[in-house]
Amino acid sequence: MAEPKYWCITSGKGGVGKTCLSVNLAFALARQGRRVLLVDGDLGLANVDVLLGLEVRATVRDVLDRGADPDTALIPVHPLLSVLPASSGVPEMANLSPDDQDLLQETLQAMATSFHYVILDTAAGLGPAVLWFNAISDLSLVVATPDPTALTDAYALIKVLAQSRQGCRFGVVLNCVQDEAEARQIFDTLDRAAERFLGMRLHYLGAVPLDPAVKKAVRDQAPFLNAAPQSRAAQALLGLADRLKALDLDRLERVKAGDQGMKVQSLR
Ligand SMILES: Nc1ncnc2c1ncn2[C@@H]1O[C@H](COP(=O)(O)OP(=O)(O)OP(=O)(O)O)[C@@H](O)[C@H]1O
Ligand SMILES: [Mg+2]
Repeated sequence: MAEPKYWCITSGKGGVGKTCLSVNLAFALARQGRRVLLVDGDLGLANVDVLLGLEVRATVRDVLDRGADPDTALIPVHPLLSVLPASSGVPEMANLSPDDQDLLQETLQAMATSFHYVILDTAAGLGPAVLWFNAISDLSLVVATPDPTALTDAYALIKVLAQSRQGCRFGVVLNCVQDEAEARQIFDTLDRAAERFLGMRLHYLGAVPLDPAVKKAVRDQAPFLNAAPQSRAAQALLGLADRLKALDLDRLERVKAGDQGMKVQSLR
């Protein structure tokens, strides 16, 4: 099997829909025949297990701190989809020391050989674990909503990642939009800022509308893709999964670190 692709779902701002999109994207890919490992990278405030109503036996922390067998922590939620859960309510769990990073990378690499995609749902903010999950990924899917603070934080995250790491690639997903026109307008604002101040272009991946079906599914602890397959959000999510599968990563712009900060190398 080819190397698995690592996609990091990230945002800067909290509460913009990272976990909802991670969970549903993982289900969409699994339903389309892809093997998916969904990792809860929100290490101190885990939510993936809550959104799916899962019973957690062991977490990423147990694997790192107690040497727990990673396979015992994995929870199969679909024949082709497994979840690696995180812990909740322990602040120090959110940190990843350099030793933790090495061990987690080894663990993920060993686990990931039987998967096509590894989806990493990150915490909010710009903490070391967020930056690290982005750094090990092939693509950072930056989620923003029309809220100006979400856009500002998405831009801030892109800036920090671009300056801290060579070779990162960004795709933008707009969540909670009214329609495609609004999503495009917001994306253009973000893209213009990135071009003007960071010297790089962003890649538009798609949008998911503000949809009461999403809130209801969260309350019912079910993926909206299953609970409301005809909803606007579910249809948009399936389109997003299709676009992501078809994405040729080598054609996306990558950040190239230069002596004076960073430049962009266009591979187009
Ligand atoms: N497209 C949508 N339409 C309506 N409501 C949505 C949509 N996406 C997310 N939400 C709502 O936003 C809430 C927060 O979503 P979610 O937990 O996925 O955000 P998050 O970015 O992972 O948050 P955190 O940063 O705290 O981890 C959900 O509980 C849901 O009610
Ligand atoms: Mg979350």
